Amino acid sequence: MLVLIVGGEGDLAYRKLYPALFELDRGGHLPAPLRVVGIARHEVTQDEFAERVQRGVVADLAEAGTELKTSDWKRFAARLTYAAADATCATSMQELKQQLFPADSQPPANTAPEELIVYLAIPPNIFAPVCKTLDAVNLAGPTTRIVVEKPLGDDRASFLEINRQLTAVFNESQIYRIDHYLGKEAVQNLLALRFANAMFEPLWNQKYIDHVQITVAETVGAQGRWAFYDAAGALRDMIQNHLLQLLCLTAMEPPATMQADDVRDEKLKVLRCLKPMDASKVRRQSVRGQYAAGAIAGQPVAGYLQEPDAGPTSTTETFVALKTEIDNWRWAGVPFYLRTGKRLPMRFSEIFIQFKEVPHSIFGRAEADAPNSLKIRLQPDDSIQLNLMNKVPGLDTRLPLQSVALDLSFSEVFHDHLSADAYERLLLDVIRANPTLFMRTDEVEAAWTWVDGIRAGWQTSGQRVSAYSAGTWGPSEAIGMLAKDDRHWDGID
Ligand code: BG6
Repeated sequence: MLVLIVGGEGDLAYRKLYPALFELDRGGHLPAPLRVVGIARHEVTQDEFAERVQRGVVADLAEAGTELKTSDWKRFAARLTYAAADATCATSMQELKQQLFPADSQPPANTAPEELIVYLAIPPNIFAPVCKTLDAVNLAGPTTRIVVEKPLGDDRASFLEINRQLTAVFNESQIYRIDHYLGKEAVQNLLALRFANAMFEPLWNQKYIDHVQITVAETVGAQGRWAFYDAAGALRDMIQNHLLQLLCLTAMEPPATMQADDVRDEKLKVLRCLKPMDASKVRRQSVRGQYAAGAIAGQPVAGYLQEPDAGPTSTTETFVALKTEIDNWRWAGVPFYLRTGKRLPMRFSEIFIQFKEVPHSIFGRAEADAPNSLKIRLQPDDSIQLNLMNKVPGLDTRLPLQSVALDLSFSEVFHDHLSADAYERLLLDVIRANPTLFMRTDEVEAAWTWVDGIRAGWQTSGQRVSAYSAGTWGPSEAIGMLAKDDRHWDGID
C-alpha cells in the first residue's frame, strides 16, 4: 500500500499528515508494507525531507509532552520517500510511477500497481488536472482512494464543479472528503453517548429539550493567512462544515448501523430539514461580526483590518451567530443556536443541550428555575457534564436546591489512553477503506444550499458586520439575539 501526498512539501503535510502517519506507525496501526511518498515540484534531498518531517513530528510530540524515540523514528523514516514530480504533467508522473513501482512489479497496463491512497494537499483549482494525470498514467484504478479537504468550493455551484472534476475520474466510493471535526474523539463519542445509552433517547426531542447551542470559539485571529480567510469568512470557513456536522450528529435519527451510508443518510435528512433563511429571517436570526483591536489573556492583539496583509475595507465576518430550526417531528420548535468566532476570550467547542423545566415544581418557583443541561465539551479538553438539581445538605426546612454537575472528564477516566488526533483517526479510516466519517456529495451539497441562502439573505438585506473587541464574546447583538428569546449563551452570564 502506498500513501502519495501531493503537496508533500506543504504546511498541512508537515504539520498534520506526516505526524499523524508517524503516530499511526508508532501505535502499530500501519500495515507493514505501507510506504509514504511526498511529492512536490521542486527538488529536495531525501535527507532534507526527512529532517523537515522529523521537525513536524517532534513539534507534534512536544505538544503531547512526549519525546521522539530513535527506534520509532527509524521505523517510520524507512517508509518515507520524497520525489520531485509535477502531478499535473503526465510525463513527470509516468517517471514517478516507474521510480515507485519498478518494472518487475508493474501490473497489466490499465490497472493501478497496488493499493494507492492519493492525498490532495493542494488547492482545489488543481484537483482536475491532477486527477486527469493520475488517470492518464493508470494511477486512478478502482483500488485508488483519493482524499480531499476543504475548501470544497465557496458555494453550491463551485462545489458541484469541483465534484464534477473529481467524479470524472473517481467513483463516489473512492472519494474521501475530510471534515477534520469528524475525526475528533469527542465528536465520535457523541455517537456513543446518544446511541449506546438508552437513557438519552426518550428525552432527545422537542418534548423535553428547550434549545441547543453549538459553539466553536477560537482565540486565534487570521493566523498569517489573511487573504485566504478573507475570501471565506466564518460562515463558509466554519459553519458550512464543522458546525453543521456537529449539528447533524446531535440532531440525526439513530442510524440502522454504523455503516457509512446509514450514518450519512441520517445526517443528510437533518441538513435537508434545516429551515431556509431568507432576507427577513437573517436580519432577526443572524449576527455577523468582525474583531477590532482588543486583548486576550491580558495581551493586546490587533484588529482584523490591522493584521499583516489586511485589506483596509474588508467586510468579511470573523464571527457568526445564527438561530435555526430543524423542521421535523423530533425537533419542531426547538431553536438551534450556532456560534463561532475568532479572537474570542477563550478556545472552546461545546454542544450544550438545555432541557425544559420540570412540568410542575413542588419546591417553589425560585429553587426550581435551573433546568437540567448537558454539556458535551470537545476542546480544549473532552468532557461530558450533566447538570442536575440537588438538595443543599443541611437542616434548612425550605429544602434549598442547587444545580450540581456530574462531570466526566476523559483525561481523568481514560488516563492510559491518549486521545488520537483527528488526522490519525481519519487517515487510518482511509487506509482501512471506511468512509463513515467522511462527507458524501449530497451532504456537502445540502450544507452549501443552506449556507448560500444565508449569504443571499445578507446581500439582499444589506446586513453589515458589527465590530467587536478582540477578547469579547462577539457583537452585543449576538447576546441580544438569545436575550430576545429569554435565553443566554452558555459560558456568558
Ligand atoms: C479550520 C478553519 O477548518 O478549522 C480554521 O479553516 C480554524 O479557520 C480551524 O481555525 C479550527 O480547527 P480546530 O481543530 O483547531 O478547532
